[in-house]
Amino acid sequence: MITKKMAKALNVQLNHEFYSAYLYLSMSAYCSKKDFNGAASWFLLQYQEELAHATRIYNYIIEQGAIVSLEQVNKPEKKFGSLLETYQKSLSHEQTMTCMLNDLSNKALNEKDHATYNLLQWFVNEQVEEEAILHEIISKIKLVKNDGYGLLMIDNELAKRTSAKSGALA
Ligand code: FEO
Repeated sequence: MITKKMAKALNVQLNHEFYSAYLYLSMSAYCSKKDFNGAASWFLLQYQEELAHATRIYNYIIEQGAIVSLEQVNKPEKKFGSLLETYQKSLSHEQTMTCMLNDLSNKALNEKDHATYNLLQWFVNEQVEEEAILHEIISKIKLVKNDGYGLLMIDNELAKRTSAKSGALA
């Protein structure tokens, strides 16, 4: 059982996960438009991963007998400037998500709600991985600057990612 306060906070996080999915779908569309098909595919998998995150929270709220409250999802931007800026915005978004998850973990601890705390630790660990991958991709893009061949190589590498579970470029 979880408190109403915790259920409310988890519903807010659920909405943020859906927003994350929406944002990555928009980034995928932007990359497709720019013919970065590898990055488009990478962000499409990221979109699926965020949907899986949302589903994990959704299932937990149901399991705890609390009420799922689906709210309107904010509209994401659709122009991201460049491949580098797209990944930089992705990293900045993930850093915001990390802060939210840390705050949520603190709430769970304050309530001595260890079940929710455990659920959140899975997300906190996931954030470490997500941020590390984004840092790596950003470093590579910075390395090649605007060199077309270099960007093509990176795009080809991004195309190798096959799973919605992040963990590597591929
Ligand atoms: Fe669900 Fe990328 O955080």
